[in-house]
Amino acid sequence: MEIVLFPDPRLRAKNAPIENFDEQLAQLAAAMFEAMYRTGGVGLAAPQVGVNRQLLVFNEEGKPEAKEHEVVLCNPRVVSKSKDRVSGEEGCLSFPGIYAPVLRHESVVIEAEDLQGETFEKEFSAWEARIFQHEFDHLDGVLFIDRFSPSDKTRLKPALLDLKRAYQESLADS
Ligand code: CO
Repeated sequence: MEIVLFPDPRLRAKNAPIENFDEQLAQLAAAMFEAMYRTGGVGLAAPQVGVNRQLLVFNEEGKPEAKEHEVVLCNPRVVSKSKDRVSGEEGCLSFPGIYAPVLRHESVVIEAEDLQGETFEKEFSAWEARIFQHEFDHLDGVLFIDRFSPSDKTRLKPALLDLKRAYQESLADS
């Protein structure tokens, strides 16, 4: 399973709700965890593997041994979020080498379906809340670069241009 890199249009496409909670969905989630661990990430959204569906996975520890921290959310909705927002450094598997601080709510309460289609509610705070909000943005076609400060946008412009160039070359090669 390949990770889709910026500026692939699938990262900006609309993501359809999950309706079938079947074996294929469970396999997709498992493959996403595998791809995430392999590439050293802590979260991954389905559009980042070229599947435009409302599915995200994360593990705040980023290690397959820490299975108890694995979170799978189908069709996530935000129920409420803290007034407090905190700034913290983020990266994204679709933007290799790019890091910048992003402002996120300190905690969020969400509702989602699990892989069996059961609806549940959960609160995330601190690092997990940050990962959730980053991945949740992906399901809306929103990327962390959209939330960079003007000075970080300027600073990272050359790196983003490099990614765009590499993408154009990959299209020409295929
Ligand atoms: Co990302």
